[in-house]
Amino acid sequence: MSQEGYQSGGFGSHFATEAVPGALPEGRNSPQRPAFGLYAEQLSGTAFTAPRHENRRSWLYRMRPSAEHPPYRRYEGAKLFAPGIVKEPVAPNRLRWNPIDVPSEPTDLIDGMTTMMANRDPADLTGVAVHIYAANKDMQHRCFFNADGEMLFIPEQGRLTLYTEMGRIDIAPGEIALVPRGVRFRAALPDGKARGYVAENHGALFRLPDLGPIGSNGLANPRDFQTPHAQYEDAEGEVELIQKYMGSLWTTTLDHSPLDVVAWHGNLAPWKYDLSKFNTIGTVSYDHPDPSIFTVLTSPSETPGRANADFVIFPPRWMVAEDTFRPPWFHRNVMSECMGLIHGAYDAKADGFAPGAMSLHNLMAGHGPDVASWKGASEAELKPHKIEGTMAFMVESCWPYVPTRFALETDKLQGDYDEAWGGFPKAQLP
Ligand SMILES: [Fe+2]
Repeated sequence: MSQEGYQSGGFGSHFATEAVPGALPEGRNSPQRPAFGLYAEQLSGTAFTAPRHENRRSWLYRMRPSAEHPPYRRYEGAKLFAPGIVKEPVAPNRLRWNPIDVPSEPTDLIDGMTTMMANRDPADLTGVAVHIYAANKDMQHRCFFNADGEMLFIPEQGRLTLYTEMGRIDIAPGEIALVPRGVRFRAALPDGKARGYVAENHGALFRLPDLGPIGSNGLANPRDFQTPHAQYEDAEGEVELIQKYMGSLWTTTLDHSPLDVVAWHGNLAPWKYDLSKFNTIGTVSYDHPDPSIFTVLTSPSETPGRANADFVIFPPRWMVAEDTFRPPWFHRNVMSECMGLIHGAYDAKADGFAPGAMSLHNLMAGHGPDVASWKGASEAELKPHKIEGTMAFMVESCWPYVPTRFALETDKLQGDYDEAWGGFPKAQLP
């Protein structure tokens, strides 16, 4: 049972949707007897007592309560997903990885998930982990949910169809989708294989950044976030349900599909967003604004202005600044930066950063353009120029990232990355 299309009520709106007419109660969240014998269940994304403007929850009306399941046991299938971070001191080096190969063995999204880096413990209810998925098989008779945080999917190759408890989301490279903490889903790969990134946010829910002097419009506009209509599966038979909980994976077996939510209402919901709709803002005079001008989503920490996680993009845009070094400048940052590339080329690096690759510039690591990019931008005639055909992104966090053992030991790690900043000519004083 499905409804086509999406609800476009805006980011964080209150939605109300039913796949069967009459399934959604009126005037009650938990009526004594919901229609058709459905079970009313609240899914909380924030504490009950969170301030009203931050409070997110939805009411789900489902065929069976999600409480009905056998005990969980450790899941051993996904060796590189949530392996824990290394305990020994990690060198403050800049790191960059070539893209991970799509496996040749049949591998679904969960088994094809590789955790590259993380910071903080999920039990701290703050921090972020960044994964790369590479898969060639639909999730069959299995669903997944993440008790540790919300998952932001950033496809790089191949479309993803996410069948979630709260409806179906289809995304292609250039789009992103978010599945809230706890929401069950399974992923299908309409193109037969898929690769991309996941930012897993353990902290405050992603929200749109405040706009300050920009005003009431700009960056990601709320109306462009699309939330699915209710859609359910009435399916008997064994379904494996895997969850990520406190940094490790657990599994149990149900005798039915857990995607049996017939109606729901509330403001905790999955969504998708087309990154090409981002209203990019930049200088029209001189200098290069801080990359915070490209923030799509932010997860605040408890310190004002210092994000637990910012999701930032570097989209196509006009460059018109006069007397300005236009690419990202040299800098050292108190925030830690994990970058990926969805397509095209990134304007601070001439090569070595292919779509699907990843880089890490942690707390106070000096970085910026490589020699070729620096020389080109320094000598360029500064006419208006449009950067086209590119989409890079950054997951910036106030907590330094710790790479996983896989990330430190894989042959995808580029041993010569520091050479990107070798060979700069010395300034010549008078
Ligand atoms: Fe940076």
